[in-house]
Amino acid sequence: MAFEIVATGKAVPPGRVTNDDLAARIDTTDEWIRSHTGIGARHIAAEGVACSDLALEAAENAISMLAEKTGERIEDIKSGLDLIILATTSPDYTGVPSTACVVQDKLNARNAAAFDITACCTGFIYGLEIAAGLLSIAANRKRALVIASEILSHFTDPDDRSTAVLFGDGAAAIIMEKTPCPNEGVNRRGLVQSILAADGSGALSLYIPKGGTRNPFKVGEVLEKLPSMKMDGRAVYNFAVRAITETIEKLLKADNKTIDDIKWIIPHQANARIVSAAQKRFGISDEKIYMNIEEYANTSAASIGIALDELNRAGKLQRGDLILLVGFGAGMTYGGSLIVW
Ligand code: ACO
Repeated sequence: MAFEIVATGKAVPPGRVTNDDLAARIDTTDEWIRSHTGIGARHIAAEGVACSDLALEAAENAISMLAEKTGERIEDIKSGLDLIILATTSPDYTGVPSTACVVQDKLNARNAAAFDITACCTGFIYGLEIAAGLLSIAANRKRALVIASEILSHFTDPDDRSTAVLFGDGAAAIIMEKTPCPNEGVNRRGLVQSILAADGSGALSLYIPKGGTRNPFKVGEVLEKLPSMKMDGRAVYNFAVRAITETIEKLLKADNKTIDDIKWIIPHQANARIVSAAQKRFGISDEKIYMNIEEYANTSAASIGIALDELNRAGKLQRGDLILLVGFGAGMTYGGSLIVW
């Protein structure tokens, strides 16, 4: 039994904010942002757009791709979904209800179980393994929709130059199908290796201090600013370099492979310098690493899925290609997947 990604989708809001746009408002420059992060622009959702709106658009795109591929009716694909797993740190509501349930209703995917997961920027990687695990455990489950959707601009202080330049909004979706193909041997397909990890000792290196049960809103309280992310950039950077190299190393070892066997590496798009550090460590050529951070900045859980969809739609993923996904983020969480396309 194999767990294959049979369709992909993405959604990025039309509002595009360049580094120069930011530099006109806060104390930063295009040169600083590009040289320290590789970011050139980010897409920011308009007021009133919620996590589920982007999630729905990405999901509809993935479903349309599958319908074109298989000739199934879109309505049949939706009603045939068994699971909707939505990774996000910026849900529509604070926990109740899950954003996945909002999306399930809008899709009319009435037979799907639906829930959210929070693994921050590693959410897409966590979502893939959870989907495969839940598909494997029940014979009657066949298809899972895994979505990662973020509107981190709602939790970013527009005046804080240390975070405002880093994040963008976006969503990605994949449909995972349980197929009779093997997941071992020469004809294997789908998700073949997965690593999930966390180091909670870094929990406060990147967090939103206000609004949860640790530091709740109080009746009559006047807020000077909306709750926003606080980040120890250096600590996150050091963790991220360790996490990305360790994950690549472990995935290759688990599958008895070298970098030469990998067709594409899709890293979480947090900072081009973090990726460069891993590139140097393993001697990876630029052609093997897919980067789109210049256009979208860090879209948190969505970034790996957006990149995967772009590669897929560009026809750059061929059957049998070995693809390595690697993510890291707040929590701190990290992990990766090896996929035979
Ligand atoms: N524009 C101009 N100058 C800036 C900016 C900015 N936007 N931000 C910081 N600076 C200044 C600092 O004030 C500092 O000035 P000083 O030397 O006068 O004190 C100088 O630039 C250097 O600052 P550092 O913080 O040391 O810069 P660094 O090289 O570490 O880069 C960065 C900062 C880009 C944030 C880096 O630490 C980083 O990428 N960290 C990881 C962040 C990340 O990936 N977060 C997301 C994790 S994933 C998730 O789950 C959401």
